[in-house]
Amino acid sequence: MNKIGPHVTIAMDGPAGSGKSTVARRIAEKLGLLYLDSGAMYRAVTVLAIHNELTSDSPELIDQVKTCHIKFTNNGKRILLNDEDVSAEIRTPQVNRLVADVAKIPEIRHEIVKHQQRIGSEGSIVAEGRDLTTIVFPDADFKFYLDASVRERAKRRLAELRKQDAEATLKSVEAEIKERDEKDTTRAHSPLRTAKDAIIVDTTDKTIDEVVDFIITAICKGENPSK
Ligand code: C5P
Repeated sequence: MNKIGPHVTIAMDGPAGSGKSTVARRIAEKLGLLYLDSGAMYRAVTVLAIHNELTSDSPELIDQVKTCHIKFTNNGKRILLNDEDVSAEIRTPQVNRLVADVAKIPEIRHEIVKHQQRIGSEGSIVAEGRDLTTIVFPDADFKFYLDASVRERAKRRLAELRKQDAEATLKSVEAEIKERDEKDTTRAHSPLRTAKDAIIVDTTDKTIDEVVDFIITAICKGENPSK
C-alpha cells in the first residue's frame, strides 16, 4: 500500500530538461509509487529503429513496435527492449537527435500510449512525459506541468551529457533542446501542451528538493485544480 491512497495517478508533463524525470522518480520513491518514464519508451523505440536500420516513418518500424516487448525493472531505473538492457543506449546523443521524429508517428504513439495506460491501470504511479496529463491520463488525480528557461534546461542536460564524456557544448545542447521543443510542441499528434487543470511549476531557480517538496505538499493538501 502506498502512502496516499489505494489507486492514485500523478501525471507530470514538461519540456526536456525541466526536471520532471528526477522529480517524478523522487516523488515515486517517497510515496511508494511506481515510476513511469514515458520518454524512455519512445527512446527505446528509437533504439529499435537504429538497431534495425529503419527510418522513423517506415511501416516496418510500426510493425515491430506492435510486437516488441518494452519492460521496466528496478522501479523504472532500467529499461529492457526485447529482454536487452538498453538503459544506457537510450541516452546517447544519437537517440536525443532522433527521438522526436519517432515520437511524432501516430501509430507508434498509439501503441506506446496503450502500454502506458495498461501500466497505469495496474497500480498507483507517478508518470511523466509530454502527453501524460492530456492524453494518457486525462483523469489523473494530480497533474503538474514543469518548466524552466531554455538556458537552465540546456545547462542541466549538458551536465548529464558530460558524465558520458560526450563532446557537447552549451550552445549545441541549447540548439538541440530548442529543436526538440519545437518538434514536440508543433507536431500534429499529441503535442506538448499545458493541461488547463495542471499546476504549473517553474523550476528555473529551484533545487530538485524544493520542487519535490512543493509537489508533495500540493498532493498532501489534495490540491488539484481539476477536482
Ligand atoms: O522525456 P525525454 O526527454 O526522455 O523524452 C524524449 C522524447 O520522447 C521527447 O523529446 C518527445 O519527443 C518524446 N516523448 C513524447 N511523449 C512523451 C514522452 C516523450 O513524445 N510522453
